[in-house]
Amino acid sequence: MLKSTLKIGLFYYSGTGATAYFAQKIAESMQNNGHTVTLIRYRSQNHTDFDEYDLIGFGAAVWVWRSPRVFTNFLKNIKLNNKPYFIFQTCGGTPGNAQWSIYKSLKHNNGIYLGDTVGMGANNIRSWRANLSEPEDTKNLVNPADIEKAKAFATKMCSQLTSTETEEWPKFASIPPQKYFKWSVLGTVSSHRWQMQMLVGKKKLIQDKCTKCGLCANKICPSGAITLNSDKYPEFNEKLCQGCQGCINLCPTLAIETKSSRTKQPFVTYRKEITNL
Ligand SMILES: Cc1cc2nc3c(=O)[nH]c(=O)nc-3n(C[C@H](O)[C@H](O)[C@H](O)COP(=O)(O)O)c2cc1C
Ligand code: SF4
Ligand code: SF4
Repeated sequence: MLKSTLKIGLFYYSGTGATAYFAQKIAESMQNNGHTVTLIRYRSQNHTDFDEYDLIGFGAAVWVWRSPRVFTNFLKNIKLNNKPYFIFQTCGGTPGNAQWSIYKSLKHNNGIYLGDTVGMGANNIRSWRANLSEPEDTKNLVNPADIEKAKAFATKMCSQLTSTETEEWPKFASIPPQKYFKWSVLGTVSSHRWQMQMLVGKKKLIQDKCTKCGLCANKICPSGAITLNSDKYPEFNEKLCQGCQGCINLCPTLAIETKSSRTKQPFVTYRKEITNL
């Protein structure tokens, strides 16, 4: 069967909004080519029915040279039923084994891997902000040249699919991403939890600043690590926390602090709009 337009789902994990922004840019280019795109931000095991899509994009931030474990563990349990998919990511400069870690999680899910695209972000792990009251300019949230590359990648991929019978789509399967020994070793010795605990530190709520808006628990945290107690104040489950630093950066009153945010200067570009996703 020939499909002239595609139904596409972009499913991504994003903490401070860079990957969300990248996903939006990819979606806009697909929509301009007549396709229907649904953006879905992963939030704490939210159920997603991938059956309805012709093509799926899986996106994530790069953490410690791989993709966030909470996300890749989730991917292991989904079914792709011979659907084509691609990978997109944002990072601070060194993706390491990140594409490979998503590919590996999906390897046994019966999908057709079509390739990947990476956007270099403006920020890196030290993404706390101490005194910043407004987001930095979001123009450079993801390198504009990488956005153009991602758009070209998406356009080529979609036009291949729409000009070919669906039964023939498997022939577009790409070579799997490479796994680099160096990044595996480094990723193992400096895990997310280590990075988070040593560099970010435990989160502390400044109650006087907290307006009990619930945004951190209901909209910001992608990992289900924040719950509201009976007084509507957030509580943090450090075991579930992945260290994305979204809550620290995006709380409207900056009521969440860590040892780092109290002492370091801001070093982040983030997207405030992610709180609406
Ligand atoms: C805990 C942590 C680890 C990170 N590790 C890496 C890394 O290994 N390589 C890299 O290039 N960027 C790394 N970064 C930077 C993020 O990949 C980058 O900021 C990304 O664009 C964030 O996307 P998000 O805003 O969608 O969460 C790390 C960020 C955090 C918070
Ligand atoms: S987002 Fe900030 S102000 Fe709102 S409940 Fe969370 S900590 Fe309090
Ligand atoms: S608790 Fe904060 S830093 Fe941890 S995963 Fe949630 S939003 Fe990210």
